[in-house]
Amino acid sequence: MKYIVKNLPEYFKFQDKALNSPEEFWGDIASTFVWKKKWDNVLNADMVNADIKWFEGGQLNITENCIDRHLKDRGEETAIIFEPNSPTEKAQHISYNQLSVEVNKIANVLRSQGIEKGDRICIYLPMIPELAYTMLACARIGAIHSVIFAGYSSTAIASRVNDAACKMVICADGSYRGTKEINLKSLVDKALENCPSVESVLVIKRTNGEVSMQSNRDFYLEELMQETQTICKPAVMDAEDPLFILYTSGSTGTPKGMVHTTGGYMVYTAHTFANVFQYKEKDIYWCTADIGWITGHSYILYGPLLNGATTIIYEGVPSYPDHNRFWEIVEKHKVNQFYTAPTAIRSLAKQDIKHVEKHDLSSLKVLGSVGEPINVEAWNWYYHHIGKERCPIVDTWWQTETGGILISPIPFTTPTKATFATFPLLGIQPVLMDDEGVEQEGNLTSGNLCIKKPWPGIARTVWNNHQRYKDTYFSAYPGYYFSGDAALRDPAGYYRITGRVDDVVIVSGHNLGTAPIENTINEQTIVAESAIVGYPHEVKGNALFGFITLKHEISSEEQENLKTAINEAIADQIGPIAKLSKIQFTVSLPKTRSGKIMRRILRKIAANELDNLGDTSTLLNPEAVQAIIDNRTD
Ligand code: PRX
Repeated sequence: MKYIVKNLPEYFKFQDKALNSPEEFWGDIASTFVWKKKWDNVLNADMVNADIKWFEGGQLNITENCIDRHLKDRGEETAIIFEPNSPTEKAQHISYNQLSVEVNKIANVLRSQGIEKGDRICIYLPMIPELAYTMLACARIGAIHSVIFAGYSSTAIASRVNDAACKMVICADGSYRGTKEINLKSLVDKALENCPSVESVLVIKRTNGEVSMQSNRDFYLEELMQETQTICKPAVMDAEDPLFILYTSGSTGTPKGMVHTTGGYMVYTAHTFANVFQYKEKDIYWCTADIGWITGHSYILYGPLLNGATTIIYEGVPSYPDHNRFWEIVEKHKVNQFYTAPTAIRSLAKQDIKHVEKHDLSSLKVLGSVGEPINVEAWNWYYHHIGKERCPIVDTWWQTETGGILISPIPFTTPTKATFATFPLLGIQPVLMDDEGVEQEGNLTSGNLCIKKPWPGIARTVWNNHQRYKDTYFSAYPGYYFSGDAALRDPAGYYRITGRVDDVVIVSGHNLGTAPIENTINEQTIVAESAIVGYPHEVKGNALFGFITLKHEISSEEQENLKTAINEAIADQIGPIAKLSKIQFTVSLPKTRSGKIMRRILRKIAANELDNLGDTSTLLNPEAVQAIIDNRTD
């Protein structure tokens, strides 16, 4: 891999090249991969019209780069370590040779089921090796995978499957999560009652629980694999052919199916993985995210495998069978790079420190954080207790839309600073905008975080809705990518992400749009209207507070029942992660004179910042604010 940063002068030198000669810079990196045909142009982008292409004319298959090219020299090296939910079940070490066999066989199964290049396949699986195999099998034959996090409800599955008109669903019979066993197949069955595009369902056995199999539609993957060949000729993909769709919440409307394409995503995830984790041959790398999120796509699967790394897939949760599980896994597999989310750090920091102290964590070299701002206490705990003040923390800022990390320290190069994501990675030019769209010059400033130049990993469109892509990311500041986050720049030029500026709330590292939750609540016949806001939460970072106006008064017992019904509806239609932690029934909601709900004030009330409400006199109904404050129940 080229341009791996070893010290700060080198960082500045490479950054200069990446920003001033991006075609040469990214072309050099891309040349280290296997291509069937070299590209004609490295970059062809129009940021005003949201039309971005990298490595146009190039042809490749990403699985040849993730698997085949490693077989000659490191075929017997471990590609994936699978650590099951239960510590009593043996971990599996899957070599690159084995990975190749599994992926090729499944790819042949997919072809035999009539899947062709460009078809969409929904994958709804727990964190088991087959999740990696099936994603790579899709990529092998040019099918577009759309992974849905296996905690999502039937309604969420159906809407995503329909949006992409998936032809096939791959699921497991069930999943293990801590003490729970969840029947995933029944959730899929329910979803598919409303999904006319799906022709077949492949089922992977994990729990061996009871499932109903619909004849001519549902097949056990294991059975179909028995007769298949272990070689599957990779499809030849254009660099800009879609590799996958991954849904992310927006502040309004349905989730957006972000489309990532083949060549640019490959180059960007591979390069950023190598730089941000400073991965060395034989290192053991563990990212605790779920592959159902972008972190897992880019930094459990593609980034590590493109580097020939050993990556851990952990099926379970941090608290099972008890709170030392993460540290036990670090010790057991001698993990060198450990990448997790602030919400996990906060919940583990609350436990007795003996859980950490009884384990040998001396293998650790680099610690990572992702998904939400990390608070000072969590950063310090991570640094002192897990890293023993030896391991740099890479606080990595990025998004589903960006494909890979954009702002992060380079370990052993960039001095770290608690809560700061520090410098942009190579080729990334962040800018901070004021509300008028003026770039803030110099340091010691703040504003809305935009990116000025295209990078290879950026999502190219929203599936079936390019206008929405353009409107969401390129219209606030024409010519710039707008992230939806605010940030500040300190005197040294370090960036600190301060949070979302739209109606997306990040709960335990998961993006939740408030509009779909409000729509679900408003479906209850007694509800007149509702407003959801985030408020600070000790472990989750943010939790959801619902202010809900009812059409008529009800008894306190009925109120309790309604709260339960609302959270059940949310769990059913969106997923349990979107449940409200607090609900307050209100007589009315504060509104502007044009009738818009003043969420800013509700946010302050939810956060208990009552002496800092700002001017409420211009509201249509200032009395609503006082009534809400007077009726607070906690
Ligand atoms: O608000 C930022 C926050 O997570 C959002 C992106 O969420 P998602 O698309 O689900 O991707 C998460 C994993 C990359 C961002 O807009 N975020 C992500 N990383 C950080 C962060 N906020 C602060 N610091 C971070 N390191």
